[in-house]
Amino acid sequence: MVKIKEFFGANFKTNPSMNELYKLLGSYLNDGVAGNDDRDVVVFLSGFPLGHLMNSTDDFLGRLASKGIEFGCQKVGEFEEGSHTGEDSALWLRGLEVPYVLVGHSEERGSYEELEAHKIRIDNLFNRKIKTALENDLNVVYCIGESKWDRSAGMVLGVLSDQSVRGLDRVSSDKMESVTIAYEPRWSIGGEPPTLDEIARIHGSIKKTVGDGVRVVYGGGVNPGNIKGIMGLDCVDGVLVGGASLDAEKFKKIVEYR
Ligand code: 13P
Repeated sequence: MVKIKEFFGANFKTNPSMNELYKLLGSYLNDGVAGNDDRDVVVFLSGFPLGHLMNSTDDFLGRLASKGIEFGCQKVGEFEEGSHTGEDSALWLRGLEVPYVLVGHSEERGSYEELEAHKIRIDNLFNRKIKTALENDLNVVYCIGESKWDRSAGMVLGVLSDQSVRGLDRVSSDKMESVTIAYEPRWSIGGEPPTLDEIARIHGSIKKTVGDGVRVVYGGGVNPGNIKGIMGLDCVDGVLVGGASLDAEKFKKIVEYR
């Protein structure tokens, strides 16, 4: 088994308010949430609070960086520039030295609901976003995950394989070093994870598709009570956390699960 650096992502989604955001990140600092040589810790914000944070007068970002806490944008457009109202550009993120982006989060997949019947096109769109992000030297966390319907139809592995293969089409192996796959079953977000056996089987299958050396993390219902079991699985290289990341104490317990 290839040794891979662990990854702990905190996806704040559209939470909390700006005042609360500074308080929460302050608690990350006070409670000692930290990245180090053995683990990446990355907080994902949407573009606006990310920009606000970068301009904060008390060098908030510098203080977080000194604790090994990095940042990522929750979404990125497929184009670097042009007439694309409302998109965040990979070129901007590169200019601002934002190291990470999320692509294809299930809540982003959900926003392309009309295309959902044509999964191929959604994954092609994500493929274009991933390639633009990688060309701009960003690290990409590409989210894949089956719906409840896919699950009940027994199509989990096929759906995940399609999402992986199409989303990563023609991404060179050297660029794959900057890609992390986040397996987030859509039905488990904000709820319960699958059983450990299921996670192990599914991560094993994803690794077979994308390569043993690619970092594959789990997301959906992760909390301090289940982290040890999840991280104890061979094919799990980290986690992407939603709800529990909004509580610094809980997130610290997750990061320090050992
Ligand atoms: P929860 O941890 O709240 O289930 O959210 C998972 C998620 O969507 C992370 O991206």
